[in-house]
Amino acid sequence: MTPHCHGLTGLTMTMLCYTADMKILLVASGAREHAIADALSRSPQKPEIISICTTRNPGLKNLSRELHVGNILDFPWVMEIAKQTKPDLAIVGPDDPIGGGLADLLEAAGIPTVAPKKSLARIESSKSFARDLLQKAIPDSVPKYRVFTSYEPKELNKFIAQDLKGDYVVKYDALKGGKGVKVSGEHLATIEEGMQYAKECIEEGGRVVIEEKLVGVEFSLLSFVSGTQVIDMPAIQDHKRAYAGDTGPNTGGMGTYTDSDHSLPFLEERDLQRASEINRLTAQALLRECREPFRGILYGGFIAVKDGIRVIEFNARFGDPEALNVLPLLSSDFAEICRAITQGTLTEDLVRFDHKATVCKYLAPESYPVSKDQKGTVVTFPPVPKNARLFFGDIAEDEQGLLHVGGSRTAGIVGIGNSIAEAEQVAEEFCRKVQGQVRHREDIGTAALIGQRMKTMRSLRVR
Ligand code: AMP
Ligand code: GLY
Repeated sequence: MTPHCHGLTGLTMTMLCYTADMKILLVASGAREHAIADALSRSPQKPEIISICTTRNPGLKNLSRELHVGNILDFPWVMEIAKQTKPDLAIVGPDDPIGGGLADLLEAAGIPTVAPKKSLARIESSKSFARDLLQKAIPDSVPKYRVFTSYEPKELNKFIAQDLKGDYVVKYDALKGGKGVKVSGEHLATIEEGMQYAKECIEEGGRVVIEEKLVGVEFSLLSFVSGTQVIDMPAIQDHKRAYAGDTGPNTGGMGTYTDSDHSLPFLEERDLQRASEINRLTAQALLRECREPFRGILYGGFIAVKDGIRVIEFNARFGDPEALNVLPLLSSDFAEICRAITQGTLTEDLVRFDHKATVCKYLAPESYPVSKDQKGTVVTFPPVPKNARLFFGDIAEDEQGLLHVGGSRTAGIVGIGNSIAEAEQVAEEFCRKVQGQVRHREDIGTAALIGQRMKTMRSLRVR
């Protein structure tokens, strides 16, 4: 990129000349990285974006100087591009390459990276590592749990039936695309079924986490993290179930919302303060345990329960769709935040979010996540109004510019407004105008659904 410095003087000229040369490598899989590229493109530094993605994502294609399409888990190929393009920094979006240690390779090649190294990424990629770390550092944030490394039917039965009174969760101990967790009463009808699943997990992965089933309302708090510097984003609520009314199988997330006060209607102030504290203490615990700083995004998945909050899980990256809600609200320079994360110079004043509400509704193929019957069919979008955003997910553009849906979530539609209700209307109106064999959850962000969450919290916390 040629810097334009004419007519500028002194410091400004030097800064612009330097910053216009910023080159960022983005390892991507879909809408989350489209939102990341969009935030980078709003940076006054106008970084040049080199994307590597699993599909020919039209959003990334428009925003990137180069788009390389292929298998992002083929690390020698990714590193070849990294070494040829010599970026100033790299951002790795999806969980698989992070869990597999891509940040270690990039850092070893001298490329500062916004994503934790493999050892630190165990906070997401290993449920037992995450539980043990938290048990040591913040014991009251963790439900009752045990890790089993061999199948001991008697012990297992006793733990589930007696200690957990039959309300339990079985967690596969590695990444499984959000499908490794089974909950009693939802996915597991009897204790025998749970024991059978635990046995499969041990046989496949060598260990399993069994834990207490928590009752409450889930929410997420994501933070920018550089070692012990932790700066929060607005709190978010995700909707994992496929169909309206929180029914059907779990998905990668059918939609999300944030509120203009950066909290959520069903949370008390102390809930959010505690979540923030837990993210900070977790970053400190990771530094102690792994003896190196976490540099990236720490995603705390929480549940507000009767007597406070507990950790459901941690992710070592932006959520998808959570990134689609918060990044459009970021009014400060995202490229600068990324640089500060890699250099250990992250400060509060670098991070500013607009006080607006957002509602994201994911359009997905009609039969998602059950089958891939609509794969390849064409979808068309209306023009995007000013107060909405469209981020492309599993969709591919052909030579004629037509957009074909893939098997997974198609596109995240974000409405932005002064209230959740206003943002919901914007997203809903847009989704209804989209033509193709796609569907979305009409209930996400509606007063009825949020009212239910508030009712659940009130009934749990009656004094
Ligand atoms: P995870 O992959 O750990 O986020 O789990 C996926 C989903 O399983 C969560 O979003 C929760 O809805 C549910 N879940 C996980 N752990 C628990 C728990 N201890 N109690 C109740 N539900 C849970
Ligand atoms: N939306 C949940 C996730 O990204 O893990």
